[in-house]
Amino acid sequence: MKIFVDTAKLGEIKEAFSWGIVDGVTTNPSLIRKAVEEERKVKGKVDLEVYVGEICKAAGKGRPVSLEVLSQKASKMVEEAQTLYRRFNPIVGNVLIKIPINTYTGQEATDYEGLKAINELSRKRIPTNTTLVMTPEQALLAAKAGAAYVSPFAGRVDDYIRKNLGIDFKKNDYFDFELMREISKARLGDYLKNPTAKEIPSLYLDEKIKKAISIGKDKGITSGVDLVRKIVNIFRKYNIKTKVIAASMRNPQQVREVAETGCDIATIPFEVIREMLKHTKTEEGVKKFYADAVQAKYEELLKS
Ligand code: E4P
Repeated sequence: MKIFVDTAKLGEIKEAFSWGIVDGVTTNPSLIRKAVEEERKVKGKVDLEVYVGEICKAAGKGRPVSLEVLSQKASKMVEEAQTLYRRFNPIVGNVLIKIPINTYTGQEATDYEGLKAINELSRKRIPTNTTLVMTPEQALLAAKAGAAYVSPFAGRVDDYIRKNLGIDFKKNDYFDFELMREISKARLGDYLKNPTAKEIPSLYLDEKIKKAISIGKDKGITSGVDLVRKIVNIFRKYNIKTKVIAASMRNPQQVREVAETGCDIATIPFEVIREMLKHTKTEEGVKKFYADAVQAKYEELLKS
């Protein structure tokens, strides 16, 4: 699995690349806003074009850098994509244009505009990364339209499920969907005590049972990881070449679980990559080895 760093902060991008484990960068307007606000505090003024150019330089030739469009209509999105591509692709050679799968915001009917833009850009050979993917159906349609990449937002799906359940959580908390499944099964147990064949039709239509089964699910999806797994499975079954980027990663355990799905890439925030390195026993071991090395006068061994 490749790792992209999910940030627009130049310092984080440079640092993460220096670790030798990062294969690309993803940005979005919110990440750019955060980075630029921070940069403005230090430098006073930021030229956004120069700044994004610096991100591309930091990624280095050939590494994918995702940049997102702004508009909701296909024609405008295509124009913006072409501008971004013309400006930044010469620097990095692998700009991916992020297009939302559906740009409907509750006003104009723009549901299909994302697909149209993806399709047109793919015909113009501008690679796209479909963003804000929350269901396998959306991912499938994006792939059919010609998306080079799809980004299922695992963390936001977990947020949505937990919020609907009224569960209290912090942004980076792991969502234990196995526990959710056990709770759901236990709830079901109350209703399904050895039903007779005659009872089955009415049980099938029983609202309480439906509710117990759908507990902790969003349109049949049990978690963000489940969303990624289902997309990977569908794409593998039909030999679909569109790459899957597990996005909206919140914690190391979630990264491990998306890695187990066989997805192509996980785009991970800088802090989460750091968290992936941590373990109390590693820390404890380093301290102990150091103390023992000092006692053993180890530095004599290391003199050049
Ligand atoms: C990356 O492509 C996404 O824009 C990003 O992972 C979203 O993460 P968030 O849900 O934590 O904002």
